[in-house]
Amino acid sequence: MKSKFPQITTTIFSEMSQLAADYSAINLAQGFPNFAPDPVLLNCFEESLSAPIHQYALMPGNLKLREAIAELIFKTENIDLSPQENILITAGATEGIFCTIQALVSKGDEVLILDPSYDCYELPVILVGAEAKRIALNAYFLPDWDLIFNQVNSKTKLLIINTPHNPSGSVWSQTDMDQLLKLLSIHPQLLVLSDEVYAYIVFDKTHISARFNKILRERSIITSSFGKTYHVTGWKVGYLTAPKYLLDEIKKVHQFLVFSVNSPSQEAFSKYLPISNPEALGVFYKSKRDFFRSRLESSRFKLLPCDGTYFQVLDYSKISSLPDKDFCIWLVKEIGVAAVPLSAFYADKKDQKLIRLCFAKDETTLLKATEKLCKI
Ligand SMILES: Cc1ncc(COP(=O)(O)O)c(C=O)c1O
Repeated sequence: MKSKFPQITTTIFSEMSQLAADYSAINLAQGFPNFAPDPVLLNCFEESLSAPIHQYALMPGNLKLREAIAELIFKTENIDLSPQENILITAGATEGIFCTIQALVSKGDEVLILDPSYDCYELPVILVGAEAKRIALNAYFLPDWDLIFNQVNSKTKLLIINTPHNPSGSVWSQTDMDQLLKLLSIHPQLLVLSDEVYAYIVFDKTHISARFNKILRERSIITSSFGKTYHVTGWKVGYLTAPKYLLDEIKKVHQFLVFSVNSPSQEAFSKYLPISNPEALGVFYKSKRDFFRSRLESSRFKLLPCDGTYFQVLDYSKISSLPDKDFCIWLVKEIGVAAVPLSAFYADKKDQKLIRLCFAKDETTLLKATEKLCKI
């Protein structure tokens, strides 16, 4: 059968993880922690199993959980959201992104994606018959506003942004947010899908959410992931916040895609959120970043800056002239460490001799991996 989307292949994360398994390599390719979540969260989950919550949750999500999210946002951002009108529990950020694009983008529209970009944005755009326009970020992996202003036109419906940024670890500044506001003021049809799954994983800078500005908030859908914040990527629970006029449309897709998200995890998060402190996550991952970077200082890799997320980008141009994907394959087979080539995050597969490694790992793993990388 002729594929509907020949340009979409198995994600690089699955590909590299499989290779890591085949060669018993240390997997720093895929973005997930290899340490246990907070035992308090696990207790909440266990307790939820004996509660009468085993049937479908409410379509927009467990109300106690939506209330807990609204409280957390009020506590940390001083923004008042309605649990009923502005919050939707999704099956990970991925489902939230999918529903948003299906609901708000139509055939013939354009969607701007800033490269390098996470890989789940493009397929939903293709599915609705819209055009995914990929625009490169600048050399610091921050928006090139001249380019963006040039590319946005009356057909551009959605701009997808991601800060803190996967794969580079860059973090948008207030100036970037101001430019974004200016762009919206010129293009009244334009909406923003702001992927903020690493919102709490910032180090030397401050995360500026699209929620912070009232005008921006009225035109933005913001996606979050409990998987990233609470070290439980396999639970696949996240949430969207958006103004009612947008969320009502998104709920229509969510309703017929999954209807509702698994109820025991939602119940567990509803109990855990009020006692959790996601703001401590930055400090936690900063020490991992610093440890990982200090261990690589004596290597032949050049370390690029990392202001947020749990990814470190390395430049290997002094070590090899292989294309980045081939270098990653060599790294798994010969050195025993799996990484992801940055070209996988670009539509044009631009090879800059850069690879991404995940440092959300326990100390033993980071020690072993860096020891191997320093031997090259
Ligand atoms: C930037 C970005 N957005 C979205 C996701 C998906 O999040 P989830 O696992 O909650 O679906 C990821 C996961 O790696 C990510 O890095």
